[in-house]
Amino acid sequence: MRVLVTGAAGFIGSTTAELLLDAGHDVIALDDLSHGRRENVPTRATFVEGRCGDESLVSDLGTIDACVHFAGRIEPALSMVEPEEFLVTNVGETVSLLRALVRAGCPKVVFSSSAAVYGAQDVMPIVEDRPTRPESPYGQSKLIVEECLHWLSVSGRLRAASLRYFNAAGATPAHPERHDPEIHLIPLALDAAAGLRPGLDLYGDDYPTRDGTCVRDYVHVVDLAAAHVLAIEALDDDPEIVANLGNGVGYSNLEVIDAVERVTGRRLNVRHAPRRPGDPASAVASNARAREVLGWRPEHPSLEGIVEDAWRARHPH
Ligand SMILES: NC(=O)c1ccc[n+]([C@@H]2O[C@H](COP(=O)([O-])OP(=O)(O)OC[C@H]3O[C@@H](n4cnc5c(N)ncnc54)[C@H](O)[C@@H]3O)[C@@H](O)[C@H]2O)c1
Repeated sequence: MRVLVTGAAGFIGSTTAELLLDAGHDVIALDDLSHGRRENVPTRATFVEGRCGDESLVSDLGTIDACVHFAGRIEPALSMVEPEEFLVTNVGETVSLLRALVRAGCPKVVFSSSAAVYGAQDVMPIVEDRPTRPESPYGQSKLIVEECLHWLSVSGRLRAASLRYFNAAGATPAHPERHDPEIHLIPLALDAAAGLRPGLDLYGDDYPTRDGTCVRDYVHVVDLAAAHVLAIEALDDDPEIVANLGNGVGYSNLEVIDAVERVTGRRLNVRHAPRRPGDPASAVASNARAREVLGWRPEHPSLEGIVEDAWRARHPH
């Protein structure tokens, strides 16, 4: 198949593009390089620099058999500061992309949704049928796109899979996690361990969790990438899929810090800071639906393995 991967210069997009190429697909890698890096794009892919919402650019790409849509703004806290920017990019540009894909006759879309659509939930693990309550414009933007995809699917224009990632982590050596600004706990902790940061801020230690710190479900980027390849196939049988991607196991921030200290052999200077608004106490996925509908089996669930892979990719020695 000819697969369009938007956001292919980013962390998850580049890893997935690599896996699609390994599976024998042709990949068109589209990215505006606003946050990604050119060197992240697999050399075997055809790179196109531009915005995903540029309909004429997308129309000129020729036949597209499937689109995997990663491009967008990703920082929930920043979305509280400049919501209009997030809505224009994540919703406005995505709707333009979808119209161009429909016009080009592309039959399938796999979309990067997020656990942020759920907001704070009382019952763990979270199943897909729980009421969605986004707590940021970022989370809202993901939910709006899911709803757009629902109507495109209902009206027979596209088959669509919305994959709700929990915390993407780990890495392959060729595609380390490098966000700018970096907002994710594991790379920040690794940079502190490498001496590139004076310490690590721990936001909140009075949550109703086992040690007072937030609990999250870390999923290896290679497992995430594999789910996208499976989703493209699963859309043959199912015109609309909404599925969580997580391991179903939660680790607290202190447990992650402990794993980073064990893997790197260095002590972190942890600074206790107040809670951040919009950070739920816990977010742990039920992955039963992804197992059933996609046939997905995460192969790298160990937190220590995830941290080791991230450490080797980010700080090769
Ligand atoms: N990293 C996570 O833990 C996580 C969790 C849930 C969901 N997601 C979603 O997964 C997707 C990928 O995340 P990531 O961590 O790889 O982020 P990333 O920032 O590394 O990748 C996003 C890429 O999209 C590109 N981009 C942004 N706006 C664009 C536009 N208008 N046109 C073309 N390219 C554009 C950027 O240059 C970047 O290369 C995002 O949609 C994100 O919301 C990520």
